Amino acid sequence: MPEILQFDLSAIPDFTEAVLAENARLSEMTGQSRLALVRTYGCQQNAADGERIKGVLSELGYGFTEQPEEAHLIIFNTCAVREHAEDRVFGNLGALKKLKNRRSSLIIAVCGCMAKQPHIAERIKKSFPYVDIVFGTNGIHRLPEYLYQALAQRRKVCQIEEQDSICEGMPVIRAEGGRALLSVMYGCDNFCSYCIVPYVRGRERSRRPEDILAEAEQIIAAGYHEILLLGQNVNSYGKGLDEPINFAELLRRINALPGDFRIKFMTSHPKDCTPELIDTIAACEKVCNYLHLPVQSGSDRILAQMNRRYDREKYLSLIRYAKEKVPGISFSSDIIVGFPGETEEDFAQTLSLVEEVEYDSLFTFIYSKRKGTKAADLPDVTPHSEKTERFARLLALQEQISIKRHQSFLGRKLRVIAEEEGKTGPGYLTGRSDENIICEFPGDPSLIGKPVWIVAREAKPFWMVGDCL
Ligand code: 5AD
Ligand code: SF4
Repeated sequence: MPEILQFDLSAIPDFTEAVLAENARLSEMTGQSRLALVRTYGCQQNAADGERIKGVLSELGYGFTEQPEEAHLIIFNTCAVREHAEDRVFGNLGALKKLKNRRSSLIIAVCGCMAKQPHIAERIKKSFPYVDIVFGTNGIHRLPEYLYQALAQRRKVCQIEEQDSICEGMPVIRAEGGRALLSVMYGCDNFCSYCIVPYVRGRERSRRPEDILAEAEQIIAAGYHEILLLGQNVNSYGKGLDEPINFAELLRRINALPGDFRIKFMTSHPKDCTPELIDTIAACEKVCNYLHLPVQSGSDRILAQMNRRYDREKYLSLIRYAKEKVPGISFSSDIIVGFPGETEEDFAQTLSLVEEVEYDSLFTFIYSKRKGTKAADLPDVTPHSEKTERFARLLALQEQISIKRHQSFLGRKLRVIAEEEGKTGPGYLTGRSDENIICEFPGDPSLIGKPVWIVAREAKPFWMVGDCL
């Protein structure tokens, strides 16, 4: 069992009170209340971490801003899954140098997956010496202590060797828009050969079901209409817990909670996805008929090289079972194009799998070499131009499939949770349907966060247009 910590600011009064006192002193001196900018990169798990960072900061007296110029504390909560994500952070960090020169009291922190890698922490120290605090993915509960050192003691902090643990009771400031993120587990033990996550998020560990249910109840009471359950591989939920429980059972228990809300979850690993899970989707009325099931490649040869531990047939049999048991189910997937050694034949297998499944949407990525992973040592001779060309072919195919799938919804009623103002312009809202289809429709901003029924009127490749009923 991993260590389970209980977050309690009153248990660390020396740090908490010192930070509060320092913030109060600075506020009085400058006549401005303390503002923090928390910028989160990457996946939903990181977004969930960002919400906890904000929760802790709020208890330490911070308000929030999106403007670096008015922030007294800037935290970059980073992603390491692809090189591009890291490059963006380095670029944005470079842009903070001027601000720090102008205002030395500004505190800059870098945390999350990227910061957790020793070679990155080293690079930050060398190339961005004005960064005050560096910590990894499992240090949010220690933020009061880090801020104390940086703010009250004017010391630099670099703490990336945190132990894997679970911290319950962390304060949280959730995003608006009707959807609440709820982590059911942390870390990953799968070691897919391309992936940095197991190295930066540590060993897989599941939260106790009673803690998850209590958080779900708080979310429902706060008026959220969607709970998005998060884990790197939710299908292995429950390992190591005292009580024998699996993810399907957890879903059933959340589904049994009273309230007007729907449940989605990500990510399912095909190697651990069971018929029981699919039956549970079918049986639980609050669990959406939607499954994000990343396949990564349609070629058995590449799947083996990726250490995914399933083959094309096992994957397709799961899809067939889901189509049979949950009529109309929507699927989405993650696909990596240009994994080392991927041939045109391998890629053709990916295209044919995509055609067979008929996903609603795809998250597609060009392979990015990650230092320290197994795949980083594989010879990679395919020219980048060829990879981008394959990538474009995959996108074009998916566009046709999405349009066709969206057309099948024309004239039908869809239940959508309005998330934010739409791209079309003022007076439009956007949100996701129970089937996870992005929908845009005319509506008043007062509907944001609420479920609305729309009739689908127009099918676009990436979303549908509709009208409120
Ligand atoms: N290169 C490209 N894509 C990657 N992903 C993970 N690691 C890499 C990498 N090194 C993709 C996978 C995963 C998603 C979250 O990011 O498709 O499912
Ligand atoms: Fe990465 Fe594989 Fe774990 Fe997903 S399951 S986080 S792709 S190692």
